Amino acid sequence: MCGIVGAIADRDVVQLLIEGLKRLEYRGYDSAGIAVVAGEAGCEEIRRVRRTGRVAEMEAAAASEAFTAGTGIGHTRWATHGGVTEANAHPHISHGVALVHNGIIENHEEQREKLRALGYEFESQTDTEVIAHLIHSFLKQGDDLLAAVQRAVGELTGAYALAVVSRHEPERLIAARMGCPLLVGLGEGENFIASDVSAIVQATRRVIFLEEGDTAEVTRDAVRVFDEHGAVVEREVHVSDVSLASLELGPYRHFMQKEIHEQPRAIADTIEAVIDNKGFSASLFGAGAEPVLADVEAVQILACGTSYFAGLTARYWIEAIVGIPCSVEVASEYRYRSAVANPKQLVVTISQSGETLDTMEALKYAKSLGHDKTLSICNVPESAIPRASRLVYYTRAGAEIGVASTKAFTTQLVALFTLTATLAKLRGRLSPEQEGEFLDALRQLPGSVQHALNLEPQITAWAERFAPKQHALFLGRGVHYPIALEGALKLKEISYIHAEAYPAGELKHGPLALVDADMPVVVIAPRDSLLEKVKSNIQEVRARGGEMFVFADLDSHFGDSEQVSVIRTPRHVGVLSPIVHTIPVQLLAYHVALARGTDVDKPRNLAKSVTVE
Ligand code: F6R
Repeated sequence: MCGIVGAIADRDVVQLLIEGLKRLEYRGYDSAGIAVVAGEAGCEEIRRVRRTGRVAEMEAAAASEAFTAGTGIGHTRWATHGGVTEANAHPHISHGVALVHNGIIENHEEQREKLRALGYEFESQTDTEVIAHLIHSFLKQGDDLLAAVQRAVGELTGAYALAVVSRHEPERLIAARMGCPLLVGLGEGENFIASDVSAIVQATRRVIFLEEGDTAEVTRDAVRVFDEHGAVVEREVHVSDVSLASLELGPYRHFMQKEIHEQPRAIADTIEAVIDNKGFSASLFGAGAEPVLADVEAVQILACGTSYFAGLTARYWIEAIVGIPCSVEVASEYRYRSAVANPKQLVVTISQSGETLDTMEALKYAKSLGHDKTLSICNVPESAIPRASRLVYYTRAGAEIGVASTKAFTTQLVALFTLTATLAKLRGRLSPEQEGEFLDALRQLPGSVQHALNLEPQITAWAERFAPKQHALFLGRGVHYPIALEGALKLKEISYIHAEAYPAGELKHGPLALVDADMPVVVIAPRDSLLEKVKSNIQEVRARGGEMFVFADLDSHFGDSEQVSVIRTPRHVGVLSPIVHTIPVQLLAYHVALARGTDVDKPRNLAKSVTVE
């Protein structure tokens, strides 16, 4: 969601804050702002620049103000409370205290009333401004900035990551975290605060991840972390392996394009541990995983969006290969219903970011029901969801910047397939021959994905035909049905074409009524046991004048004909076919969006890492 950066240094931090915000922009891009403590010692003041729109616009405004400062904070916003206006953009200021906030304060109305009664006036519609005034109200009672922030957060319910500065205490930054990620970066004679390490990686890789309820006092030379009771605590220092190159576009036009093309490498990195291990074993999921996984009798997968579709795909694998029941549920639904706990059920959360609030809350709810077999499949080390889970499998996709998830999805599928094979082996349902076959399939996967990527020129030509359309249907059957869902989601989120996916057999039960010459129908038609059924479904569409775009395996024996255009993916790769068939639907969405001229990496209304409900 929103992005936070803060810095305190002997040098000017304005440009550093702006560069940090540019790297965080994928987290939210409605508006951006910075506030710094500027001026001669003894007469400091808060200088602030905010703009709606992109960081670049705010940067231009800051350049014209030409101020410099050694202490400051910055923010990119994804609007929750209050529209996209300059007044609602962060930082918010109360009498010399400036603050940026990620998250949602649930009791902001109540706090607002109390603060109004104390004489505070509100300039914005945000929940954040409440925190600024609350901190000031404690400063007025004689607290210093650290104590005022600690008391203020004690009054809040909801989720927050905060960075705070004051003109009265220019020599420190204060950070606080509950429910939203925040870290402290450790430099030489300078220190930082950030919502993720990408914001400060040009300055340092040494970071402390704040824990729930922590506050931190950050000066140039020291960092002190306090737990939720206000006691000083030591938190581990991590050295991040995020590379600057992974945060830069290189020769690509968009991060989404780069990330689609990185998939052979991302998959190879994700399966490396399995290949090195020469087989599937519980140890791939962390120390002590064997007793947790050995007696699993059912699987419950919880996730959102694209990660949910990865879970839907895995259900086909788990039930067919492991032979145990698997349910998959959207996390935001699971967390609010009376679910039945089963101590032998493995609860698997899937999250690229590891900080999606709905998924995190669903995990907490599952744990509160008594589930203690929990596994997180995640792409971001040390993020909240894996930290709250007993077992972890990290996908190694690398930083995913494009808002539309691509390489995270295919690596999640690889991780879920590894889980499937491991559970099957633990239950005595994987013969050594089959294990060898699965390992071979995984080894060959990066090559098959590369072949699918080579279809890009043909898919680009199709995209021109899609671009003028308003609606599209995606069809798949069996384990490829979730891939149809993923294709439809990709198309709608970045091209704004309304797209829906159906199991191909479901078409005649209603959606066929939508089919006419203006409704392109994308069909995923691999050479599997359902191919003949899919071919019949295609005839149903054809008889209604629909135009079809079929992704068929080389050995599916599909020919182009009137109304039916075919792109042949590589030969059927067997059980991992859904992963290979994901590539063409990603490329289609990307090129249709390009042809329509939308902002591919930052689609309207969306943001990466959804840390609000
Ligand atoms: C779609 C997309 C979203 C995310 C969803 C969950 O392209 O990116 O649907 O998949 O918000 O995010 P994570 O996986 O970070 O929990």
